[in-house]
Amino acid sequence: MSESWNRRHVLSLWDFEPWEYDTILQTASSFREVLSRRTKKVPTLQGQVVTNLFFESSTRTRSSFELAAKRLSADILNFAPGSSSLTKGETILDTAKTYLAMGTDMMVIRHQEAGVPAAIAAEMDRLNCGVGVLNAGDGQHEHPSQALLDLFTICTAIDPINPKLDLLKGKKVAIVGDILHSRVARSNLWSLTASGAEVHLAAPPTLLPRAFADFVQGTTTEGQRPTKGDRKLYIHWNLDDAIVDADFVMTLRLQKERMTSHLLPSLREFHQQFGITRDRLKICNPNVRVLHPGPTNRGVELTSDVMDDGTISLVSEQVTNGVAVRMALLYLMGSTR
Ligand code: NCD
Repeated sequence: MSESWNRRHVLSLWDFEPWEYDTILQTASSFREVLSRRTKKVPTLQGQVVTNLFFESSTRTRSSFELAAKRLSADILNFAPGSSSLTKGETILDTAKTYLAMGTDMMVIRHQEAGVPAAIAAEMDRLNCGVGVLNAGDGQHEHPSQALLDLFTICTAIDPINPKLDLLKGKKVAIVGDILHSRVARSNLWSLTASGAEVHLAAPPTLLPRAFADFVQGTTTEGQRPTKGDRKLYIHWNLDDAIVDADFVMTLRLQKERMTSHLLPSLREFHQQFGITRDRLKICNPNVRVLHPGPTNRGVELTSDVMDDGTISLVSEQVTNGVAVRMALLYLMGSTR
């Protein structure tokens, strides 16, 4: 790897280069080793301040970033909107600037509106303060650290010692569930198709418009996004076509709020058509592994017996790997300062 990391902000994966994925995979792999030691801490970010600005609720992502920052010896500030001056009318940018004035070096931002982390990053650049911004999920736009931990989990399932992007070439990965509303799916589309994997999407048509394929191929947005004509992306409105011979099946949370907007008849019907059960996995590669970013609706996206079977499910691995991947991101972003 001759190139050196130069991204101060990680807001989206759309323009990530293969060497950047490999840098993250290799860095995360060494942090995963650190996390298996008796003393699970390195002094890398000693004296630096990482601020978690989570304007939307989160269990695993917020805790995962907090632990990652602590394992790197950074000081961590946690912002909670309910008990903050936002309730007194302060703007989001002023909240961010307050943390900047306290000496924040990196901000990890989650917001229910797409574009908020990018807006804060632009303001930090305008102020020329050197602060890095990491998007921890913005609206339905992207969730890059989740897709990177998914990528790391898939690659280490293939080769635990030397995870790299190339391992996915020619593999079949299915993504099943509420794709339309999923920022996790959008980030995963960039990384998985960049790896040379065949990516098959499955959902009811109300949750999976055909335009999704064009979005990744770059044909509808040419000029704004690089054309990635060789990305292999397929759309299915039934489960079996997507998962037949699949090496990995990634399920996504079915957001119950979608039912009220009449995009789905019922959770039961969704489970019957798209729910992952041991029986339905029989048509996959015999060594198929199943992922889910969490939170899970047990019995809807996948059955409990699949989710809790460690020979099939990678769900706990994803959570464990999340800390190592977020350490890698904070470390690499910190190295640009
Ligand atoms: C996801 C999110 O918040 O975008 N979860 C996560 O970060 N682990 C997916 C979801 O909420 O369904």
